[in-house]
Amino acid sequence: MSLYHPSDDFVARSNVSGGDARRDLVARAEAAPEKFWSELAESELHWFRKWDAVLDESGAPFYKWFVGGRTNMSYNCVDRHCDTWRKNRAAIVWEGEPGDQRTLTYQELLRCVKRFASVLREQGFRAGDRAIIYMPMVPELPVAMLACARLGIVHSVVFAGFSAEALKTRILDLDASLVITADGGWRRGKVVPLKDAVDEALHDCPGVRSVIVYRRTGSDVAMHDGRDAWWHDLDRGASEDCPAEELDAEHPLYVLYTSGTTGKPKGIVHSTGGYQLQVSMAMRWVFDIRDEDTYWCAADVGWVTGHSYIVYGPLLVGTTTVMYEGAPDFPEPDRFWRIADKYRVNVFYTSPTAIRAFIRFGDRYPDRHDLSSLRLLGSVGEPINPSAWEWYHRVIGGGRCPIVDTWWQTETGSIMISPLPGATPLKPGSATFPLPGVAADVVDMRGNSVEPGGEGFLVVRKPWPSMFRTLWGDPVRFQEVYWSQIPGTYFVGDAARKDKDGYFWVLGRVDDVMNVSGHRMSTAELESMLVRHEAVAEAAVIGVPDELTGQAVVAFVTPIQGHEPTDELAAELREWTAQQIGKFARPKQIRFSDALPKTRSGKIMRRLLREIVTTQTVTGDITTLEDLSVIDRLAAQQGSD
Ligand code: PRX
Repeated sequence: MSLYHPSDDFVARSNVSGGDARRDLVARAEAAPEKFWSELAESELHWFRKWDAVLDESGAPFYKWFVGGRTNMSYNCVDRHCDTWRKNRAAIVWEGEPGDQRTLTYQELLRCVKRFASVLREQGFRAGDRAIIYMPMVPELPVAMLACARLGIVHSVVFAGFSAEALKTRILDLDASLVITADGGWRRGKVVPLKDAVDEALHDCPGVRSVIVYRRTGSDVAMHDGRDAWWHDLDRGASEDCPAEELDAEHPLYVLYTSGTTGKPKGIVHSTGGYQLQVSMAMRWVFDIRDEDTYWCAADVGWVTGHSYIVYGPLLVGTTTVMYEGAPDFPEPDRFWRIADKYRVNVFYTSPTAIRAFIRFGDRYPDRHDLSSLRLLGSVGEPINPSAWEWYHRVIGGGRCPIVDTWWQTETGSIMISPLPGATPLKPGSATFPLPGVAADVVDMRGNSVEPGGEGFLVVRKPWPSMFRTLWGDPVRFQEVYWSQIPGTYFVGDAARKDKDGYFWVLGRVDDVMNVSGHRMSTAELESMLVRHEAVAEAAVIGVPDELTGQAVVAFVTPIQGHEPTDELAAELREWTAQQIGKFARPKQIRFSDALPKTRSGKIMRRLLREIVTTQTVTGDITTLEDLSVIDRLAAQQGSD
C-alpha cells in the first residue's frame, strides 16, 4: 500500500513538524508522563491555583488529575482570550439552515456567557446542580454550555434528534433541576418542535424547576407559568458582572449519555482540568491549528465530537469555529461545500458516513465550489473505508490535504489515536498511531501485546488526562464494563489490528454495540424498547454491514398472538422507535418471525441472525441451537424495508 506524505511546505509550517518531532514528543511522554502533562498544563491553560499532584492513582480506576488545582473551562475558553489580540477575533461563525448568519467575536461571546451565567446565578443555580441542554445548533447552545461551566453547573446536552421519552430518561437519571431549550430548530426546511418534547418529558419530571426557552423558529409554544421563561426576556438587563468560579480540577464538567450493552444508557462523566488539557493538545497536534485558521467540525454538539471539537477544543486554543445548524443536503447536496467556500474554511472534520453520502451525490456538488482554502481534513466516528478516504483526499482535498483519521470515544473525551498531519505518513483506512502520552495497544485475552500483523482487543494501558471519571450514579458498572476484562487496563470494546509497521487499524466493536452513521446504538436498548410495544412478544436486534451508514439496524420481531405481522405493524414499530428514542434509531429493516434462534439456555443467537441477513443461509456452528427448524423459517422470510 502506498503511503501518503505531507508536502514539504505543510511539514515546515506544522505544529509538530516531521517524524522526528513526533517521536521526540512520544519519547518524552513515555519517559516521564506526569512531567510531560504537567508542563503542557502549565503552558496551555490558566489555573487559579496550581495542583499539588499531577496524577493520583490511589483510588484506581477512579483516577484523579491535577489534584488540588483550581481552574475554569469557561475562563480558559473565553475570558483569557479577551486580554489578548484575539478579543475581536471571530470565535463562532454560525450559519442557520434557512441561510441566516451570525458571527460572535471572543469579546461578544464573553458578554453573552456572562449574562446567561448571571441569569442562572439569579435563579439560584450553583456549582454541582445539573442542567439538561436540549437545543438546536445555534450559538446559544455553546453559550449555555459555557455559562454552566462558568458556575460549575454540570451540563448534559441531549441531541435534539432524541425523543421526549429519551429526554425524560436522561433528566430523571441526572436528577436535573434546569432545562435549557428552544422553541424549535430547523431541519430540512421543517421545524423540529423541541419545546413540545420538553413539555411532554416534564410531565414526569417534578425535579425540574426552571425551563429557559431560546426563540429560534418563532413557532407557537406553550409557556408554563412559574416554570418557563424566554431567554430574551431574562437576558434583558442581565448583569455582565459574573466572574468564573474557581473550580476544582476534578469538578465534573458534563455528563453525556451513550449506549452500552444493556438497555440503560450510560452517563459518561467528564471532569474539568484534564479534559481541557487533552482536547486543547489535540487541537494543536492533530488539527495543527494556526492563528489564521478557520476551523469547521461538521458534527452535532449533541454528540461528544461536538463537545470536544466544535465547542471546547476550538475555543480553548482561540481559533474560529464554524457552526452550521441544518442538514448537509439542504436545500441541495452542496451545502457543506458552499459553507466551506464561503467562510474560507481551512480545517474540516466530518464522518465517513457523511463522506459516503457525498460520494453518492456525485462530484458535481463539490465541483461547483472553490475549496482551495482547505489545507487539512479529518474523519471520525467509524472506520473509514480506503475508497471513501481516497475520494475525500482527491475531490475535497484536491490531493493536497492530509487526512487525520481520528479514533476516540465518548469515554476517552479526546482524540487518542490519530496521525499528526505534518509528521505521520498516512495509510488510507488506518488511524495510524496513538498520540503522545496515550498508551494504547492491541492485546490478546490475557493482556499481552499481539505480534506485528496480529489482531486483538484495543486497550489503553495507562490513565490519560481527558479520561471519563465514572458513570453517573453507577460506579460499579464503570469498574465492571471497562476495567475488569483485563485488570488495571482500560477495555475499549473495539477490535483492532497492528500491522508490521505498527499502524493501528480499528476494526469495529467486539460487544453488542452497533455503530450506525458514527452513532453508537445498543442492541439491548433497542430490544427492550421494542418489547415494550403492546404487539411485541420478543425482539432481537443486530447490526449488519451497510454501504452508506457503516452498519444498519435489522430488528427481528415475534408478535404477540393476535397481532398480525403486517407492513402496518412494521411501520408502527418504526414510529414507536422514533417516539421512544428518536427518528435516527429507526431500524432499516423489520423482519417478523414466529420464533428466534436460541440456545438451550434461552440466549438469542444473534450471530445466526446476522448470517441469515447477510448470506441468507447459516454455515456456522448450530449445535447449541434449540430448534433447528427456526433457521429455515427465518431464511425464507423477506424483510420489510
Ligand atoms: O468503535 C469505535 C468507533 O466509535 C466508537 C465510539 O463511539 P462514540 O463514543 O459515539 O464516539 C464517536 C466519536 C468519537 C469507538 O469505540 N470509532 C470512532 N472513531 C473511529 C472509530 N472506529 C474506527 N475509526 C475511527 N476513527
